[in-house]
Amino acid sequence: MELSESKTIIVTGGAGYIGSHACKALANAGYLPVAYDNLSRGHDWAVKWGPLEKGDILDSDRLSELMKKYQPSAVMHFAALAYVGESVTNPLLYYHNNVVGTYTLLRTMLRHNINKFIFSSTCAVYGDPQELPLTESHRRSPVNPYGNTKAMVETMLEDLAAIEQISFISLRYFNAAGADTEGEIGESHEPETHLIPLVLEVASGKRPHIEIFGNDYDTPDGTCVRDYIHVTDLADAHIKSLEYILDNKGSEFFNLGTEYGYSVNEIIENAKHITNKEIDVKIKARRPGDPPALIADSSKIKKILNWKSKYSNINQILSSAWEWQKNN
Ligand SMILES: NC(=O)c1ccc[n+]([C@@H]2O[C@H](COP(=O)([O-])OP(=O)(O)OC[C@H]3O[C@@H](n4cnc5c(N)ncnc54)[C@H](O)[C@@H]3O)[C@@H](O)[C@H]2O)c1
Repeated sequence: MELSESKTIIVTGGAGYIGSHACKALANAGYLPVAYDNLSRGHDWAVKWGPLEKGDILDSDRLSELMKKYQPSAVMHFAALAYVGESVTNPLLYYHNNVVGTYTLLRTMLRHNINKFIFSSTCAVYGDPQELPLTESHRRSPVNPYGNTKAMVETMLEDLAAIEQISFISLRYFNAAGADTEGEIGESHEPETHLIPLVLEVASGKRPHIEIFGNDYDTPDGTCVRDYIHVTDLADAHIKSLEYILDNKGSEFFNLGTEYGYSVNEIIENAKHITNKEIDVKIKARRPGDPPALIADSSKIKKILNWKSKYSNINQILSSAWEWQKNN
């Protein structure tokens, strides 16, 4: 397919875990993804479906150059620092990178008349759930600086949309997991903090055991319950969101989860089955700020964008992540 300029999409954080999967989905849908990443937490090897432009979202001159060069029809914004624990010990780093960085990006986009924006938000904007499953109308009340940075960006976007300067979709991901089903890319965080890759590192002998933070929660087996969504399903939601905002003026918030929760124990048991390995566990104290359960109501995105998850069965999530881990 011939690519015109209007098919060009800037993907900030395109060298990261979810951004790189979105780049693959964009290329498959006939777009040219331009990954803009400072490589602080991403990998140049993950940029395979379009150019890599090295740069920082805090650098407005470099962003201006980028907008002039590519004249994208939209920006998908994945670039962020995303470790909750680090955000608690170094909040200003997070406010600077995630809030000032996004402010700089938005300001530069508007100067170049680019006003379609897809934002990587998170279920962390809700804080402790008042009811489950979580719908988009649940109050926004984050309980850590990372969640605060995402909620602040959402507020900034609402204010810009109110005066029609921007049209945005904010996708509130639950727990992203799994790897590209063709094995071309996968999760590679340093340090790794996500449960599934950690459990698989124990299965492959890279770690001695997995730590479970609390087994006395008010959940069926006492361990925390989360909603795991396959990264390829997330990437597909970005394509549907892009097509929606390219054709419509409005702005929307959408949850992205499977509407089903797995406990930490269930993930470990399923991982033992998939890998055929023993997985040692150590029970630790609860971590402050970990709600017992987080489960999405994703009916809004299903209804409005006709999105549905295709790869988020827990066995598919674990086996794609295991294949990636064994081969890389
Ligand atoms: N992984 C999850 O489960 C999850 C859940 C909810 C929301 N999110 C959000 O999704 C997005 C992507 O997450 P991920 O897991 O792929 O993280 P990641 O760390 O793999 O990717 C983020 C990318 O952004 C880049 N980056 C960071 N700061 C930058 C800056 N100032 N300028 C340019 N590039 C910068 C990093 O180098 C990295 O490549 C993040 O915004 C994160 O907050 C992730």
